Amino acid sequence: MAPMLDWTDRHCRYFHRLLTRQTRLYTEMVTTGALLHGDAARHLDFDPAEHPVALQLGGSEPADLAACARLAKQWGYDEVNLNCGCPSERVQKGAFGACLMAEPQLVADGVKAMRDAVDLPVTVKHRIGIDQVERYDFVRDFVGTVADAGCTVFIVHARNAWLKGLSPKENRDIPPLRPELVYRLKQDFPHLTIVLNGGVRSDDEIDAHLAHVDGVMVGRQAYHDPWMMSAWDARFFGQTGPADGRDSVETRWFDYLDRIHQAGRPWPTAMRHALGLWNGERGARLWRQYWSDHRHKSSLPSELARQFNARSRPNPVELQAVTVE
Ligand SMILES: Cc1cc2nc3c(=O)[nH]c(=O)nc-3n(C[C@H](O)[C@H](O)[C@H](O)COP(=O)(O)O)c2cc1C
Repeated sequence: MAPMLDWTDRHCRYFHRLLTRQTRLYTEMVTTGALLHGDAARHLDFDPAEHPVALQLGGSEPADLAACARLAKQWGYDEVNLNCGCPSERVQKGAFGACLMAEPQLVADGVKAMRDAVDLPVTVKHRIGIDQVERYDFVRDFVGTVADAGCTVFIVHARNAWLKGLSPKENRDIPPLRPELVYRLKQDFPHLTIVLNGGVRSDDEIDAHLAHVDGVMVGRQAYHDPWMMSAWDARFFGQTGPADGRDSVETRWFDYLDRIHQAGRPWPTAMRHALGLWNGERGARLWRQYWSDHRHKSSLPSELARQFNARSRPNPVELQAVTVE
């Protein structure tokens, strides 16, 4: 599951864990500056249920990255991932994201510094190119240089980042997807773990990519249609998943929201990540509207659920009667 700023926070990851136990989850990107000079615990705390979970860092100074990798280790993360894909323009010191693809040696130095600092896997997420550079050699040389520093896992968003003129959102849709370049990376670096990302919309598409690469990272589709994840443990990991129905996921999720509420914190900030749970099912819209209604925000979620079910969900006896007729 992809790192997504404002989306894959700890509440979101807890929710996703109710749907899949095996899928690796990524935090939102956290900059080295925010960790080293801000409230580290606020960014780093997570629930043990979230494992395996990777911390994604934004930054470029090797010493800062090493210090943050040590924090990741201290907090118990399973992986540290460096963001070389976010379409931010280079800003003097403290650059992060896709502009780092133009400086593969700096990325290699950062990876080496993190690997020297901790024994966690250090991985890199990047694009296939920046701006108008369409040559395969560019991404091949980037991966080669960074791999020489000991990185063995590359997560490749299969489109360029255009650093000028497009918003981050446009940069996730407008530059064309070129998955064949990612497949080629796997051919040229068979010993590396190559994970494809970008535009994946279904389990069949995941399967099709898996014929060419080692892994697939999914972002928006799974966020908006989270039930998709409930099939992944069985289909892609050969394990029984934790979700045997949307109802039971919902019940466990409301227990979690109750705990947030009882701790005096606002549960709607967590609930927003689960609003797609019933997507594609009858009544999904009503459910979504009910759970995003701000008038409910001071009530206990499990009590709200009881009221909603009593009012808006046909009970099984009525359904049976309809079936018999
Ligand atoms: C709201 C949002 C926030 C994102 N934030 C990050 C981020 O913090 N770090 C990162 O590497 N990519 C970020 N991305 C990009 C995703 O990780 C992913 O590469 C991209 O959405 C393409 O995958 P998809 O088509 O499956 O969504 C973000 C995407 C979205 C939609």
